[in-house]
Amino acid sequence: MEINFKKTYTFAIISTLYITVFSTSIVALLLWLYGTFVWQICFLFAVCMSIFSFFVTQYRVEHFIYRRVKKIYDDVSLLDSATLRSKAITTDMATLTREVKKFATDKKLEIENLKVREEYRREFMGNVSHELKTPLFTVQGYISTLLGGAMKDKELRKKYLERAEKGVERLIYIVEDLDLISKLEMGDLNLDFTKFNIVELIQNVFDLLEMQADKKNIILMFDRKYSKPIMVRADQEKIQQVLTNLIMNSIKYGKENGTTEVTIEDLVKGKIIVRIRDNGEGIEQNHIPRLFERFFRVDKSGARSEGGSGLGLSIVKHIIEGHNEKIYVESEFGKGSEFSFTLEKQE
Ligand SMILES: Nc1ncnc2c1ncn2[C@@H]1O[C@H](COP(=O)(O)OP(=O)(O)OP(=O)(O)O)[C@@H](O)[C@H]1O
Ligand SMILES: [Mg+2]
Repeated sequence: MEINFKKTYTFAIISTLYITVFSTSIVALLLWLYGTFVWQICFLFAVCMSIFSFFVTQYRVEHFIYRRVKKIYDDVSLLDSATLRSKAITTDMATLTREVKKFATDKKLEIENLKVREEYRREFMGNVSHELKTPLFTVQGYISTLLGGAMKDKELRKKYLERAEKGVERLIYIVEDLDLISKLEMGDLNLDFTKFNIVELIQNVFDLLEMQADKKNIILMFDRKYSKPIMVRADQEKIQQVLTNLIMNSIKYGKENGTTEVTIEDLVKGKIIVRIRDNGEGIEQNHIPRLFERFFRVDKSGARSEGGSGLGLSIVKHIIEGHNEKIYVESEFGKGSEFSFTLEKQE
């Protein structure tokens, strides 16, 4: 890149002034001592001296200081600093100091940013391997036992193979979630907007999850009868995934004999809000801000029977935000939770 100099003459002018004043005073003093003081001579001397010293100083400055300053710019631009190189090089020290300081601050921020990202990446890798380890070791355990002799027992063989299969299913589930999440984070959402009836979609999800709900004797229901269809414009498959995740959570973290109630309300013109309310275990307030983070679970111990990987809500949030809509959560510990999201209504 071509370097252009922005010349400053202040340094040379001030130096010239000092030299001229000093040397002219000496000349004037000497002339006066010898009794031949003529002011025209002093004036002529001052003019010659100032011209001479101005050019010498300017020349020296250009070849000495400029060279050094240029080296600083060159060194700094090794770090690929577009911010510094885009400006004209200056020998004005104040500007230079300011620029270098700004450059250093920018770099510091950049480094801090990278550190945070690196920390995030490390945590993510740790979480992934931790999540994969449990089912992987389960599968390995059953297979080793089978190979170690249990295979001969027909009943055990079936039982262990089934358990190993469960472990593999769990692995697939985690890997699919991770795959989806990385796609979502790369902005690879590919939403396929269509017009559909949200009441019907919710009913479908109820039907699909009925078995799981029955196991805990949880009732899945609407707050009232929605006899008319409510048409929305969104990606139907993705919204089904959102509903499945939220309703599944309401079952997983719901109490035995509890209820999950879904409400559809008009919010503002052209928007509806879907609320999924349960009367389950609820979430403590201090956990709420982190709820939508990847891998976040309130109960990390895994002792809980309902083992999830903590990816569900993170996926839900990505999908809703991908639609430019909002998701909300309200919860009272011990009483229950309500997750709600907005959607675009289509008349
Ligand atoms: N309806 C709810 N009631 C109480 N706690 C909830 C509810 N929904 C979510 N949570 C809490 O939020 C955490 C994160 O939920 P999320 O759906 O992201 O993960 P998960 O259900 O543990 O796993 P996954 O959905 O990936 O199988 C849960 O572990 C649970 O502690
Ligand atoms: Mg979940």
